[in-house]
Amino acid sequence: MKRILSCMQPTNNLQLGNYLGALRNWVKLQDDGDSECLYGIVDLHAITVKHDPAALTNATRSAAAAYIAAGVDPKKSSIFAQSAVPAHSQMMWLFSCMTPMGWLNRMTQFKEKAGKKKDQASLGLYSYPVLMAADILIYQATHVPVGDDQKQHLELARDIAASFNQHYAGGDTFFTMPEPVIMGEATRVMSLRDGTAKMSKSAESDMSRINLTDDADTIANKIRKAKTDPGAVPSNKEEAEGRPEALNLLTIYGALSDTSAEASMAEFGGQQFSVLKNALSDLAVAKLTPITSRMNELLTDPAEIDAILAKGAEKARALSQPTVDETMKLMGFWS
Ligand code: TRP
Repeated sequence: MKRILSCMQPTNNLQLGNYLGALRNWVKLQDDGDSECLYGIVDLHAITVKHDPAALTNATRSAAAAYIAAGVDPKKSSIFAQSAVPAHSQMMWLFSCMTPMGWLNRMTQFKEKAGKKKDQASLGLYSYPVLMAADILIYQATHVPVGDDQKQHLELARDIAASFNQHYAGGDTFFTMPEPVIMGEATRVMSLRDGTAKMSKSAESDMSRINLTDDADTIANKIRKAKTDPGAVPSNKEEAEGRPEALNLLTIYGALSDTSAEASMAEFGGQQFSVLKNALSDLAVAKLTPITSRMNELLTDPAEIDAILAKGAEKARALSQPTVDETMKLMGFWS
């Protein structure tokens, strides 16, 4: 049986990229039926930068509502907050001590996020990938759906697993080697203002992204104003070359219509961008507004969401505990 684990940081502001690149795929994997699915909200990862405690609590609840509204079914999948399962932090220390700094120095996400102010970045930002390895390995996850930008972190988790297996498990496969699952079209949804930057919940301009909480008018307006170029809509991949904004809109249309960027090119190629934008705006509104309204409805009953998170955490603790106990034993610790 497959065990699927994936996570997202808590935010009130999940956007189209999170839906197309992650949530939608999580639902498909859940509904495939032959796997145990765990979907975490990684609130411990969210404090690598300064945070407000009350806002964090709310963001975690709101992310849970977004998971459910997008189709993650708490009866089939475990939805939990990372902080409610102590094993994540516990295992992280153990892994920290077997992770050479040289491995972390290679992580491109740290370099990007720390920028020129490396000395001011927190130790947590630096060791973020070790916590992520713990997230994955404590559940013996076999498959981990992630975006392209997380492949390097997953590789690190595999290196840590291999190192543990070698040093403490006599070469046995104690920790399962997790496989990345990079799924479907539009795993990488780009900014509406800059086709070379990832659509991000933290980008400065709200016009750069479509939030799961945007109403129909806002979605339509953002798509109408999305950056394009003076040409006509490209008809094929060659014509789309060097035109990231055009390709992005076509990719999003392909993903939302369950086809592909190529199919969108065949449909809209040679026409004016306004034609594509109108169609995209209708489609995005049709697909996203039911999610938004379900999410808002769920958020009117926070106690219900909290109960779902409590149940998910209980399951997650139970699934990880045997691995934690055995790891402690193999390393010579007391329990
Ligand atoms: N680092 C991931 C991201 O930014 C989130 C994450 C944390 C994650 N732990 C994980 C994803 C474990 C998959 C599995 O998208």
